[in-house]
Amino acid sequence: MSIINNIEKDQVPKHVAIIMDGNGRWAKKLGNLRIFGHKSGVKTVKVVVEAAAQAGVKFLTLYAFSTENWNRPKLEVEALMQLLVSTISSEIEKLHKQGVRLLTIGNIESLPSKVQKKLNDALKLTENNKGLTLVLALSYSSRWEITNAANKIIEDVKLGKISDSNITEDEFSKYLTTYNVPDPDLLIRTSGEYRISNFLLWQIAYSELYFTEKLWPEFTKDDFFNAIINYQERERRYGKTSEQV
Ligand code: FPP
Repeated sequence: MSIINNIEKDQVPKHVAIIMDGNGRWAKKLGNLRIFGHKSGVKTVKVVVEAAAQAGVKFLTLYAFSTENWNRPKLEVEALMQLLVSTISSEIEKLHKQGVRLLTIGNIESLPSKVQKKLNDALKLTENNKGLTLVLALSYSSRWEITNAANKIIEDVKLGKISDSNITEDEFSKYLTTYNVPDPDLLIRTSGEYRISNFLLWQIAYSELYFTEKLWPEFTKDDFFNAIINYQERERRYGKTSEQV
């Protein structure tokens, strides 16, 4: 019997975000180049997208490339960009047929034009799909996103589009690149690192955090289901007492 049957269908996290970590270490362990780990990481991406859809998750956000990742060796950055283009090319039709809607968050304009073009085509193709929303965080970091939001607010104040007196949390959220995505219920990080690494700092204010020792290429469908089951055992209090919730 698959472990998916142990998931409570009416308490599935609406949004799961993942910090996919450990590709490099996994490759090194096997005596391979880091890019071999990223290629294997793509296989896990496919498995997890399928698992999320099966479990009834509505939004899945994957931290695929951070602002800080630009500082990696040039060859690794190029290989990651190439992998992104080739994966979208080979997978997008299948994802589209499965009803997956693709979204991106991050500083997309900083990506090579070839990657931007591939992404834009994929976004357009899938924009009306009603199944899982797959959000790729690319050239993303929270501090960039929050600073970018502040700058856009200044611009809108100057243009007279919004008042200069006050701004609410809700209004501020609309300037983040996640404006059309609900906050994550569950954040998973693989590879035994207990860090957030500049990911969704605003959005995870009340998310449940789940860490696993598994390296990303080793992470399986059952690992994903287990993370959901673990999430379902928790009590989300949002600052209230146990008796109040
Ligand atoms: C972290 O492992 C992983 C990344 C920086 C890149 C993740 C990218 C993919 C899985 C492939 C592209 C994604 C899509 C959606 C097609 P690491 O290199 O930091 O590992 P390490 O900590 O062991 O060095």
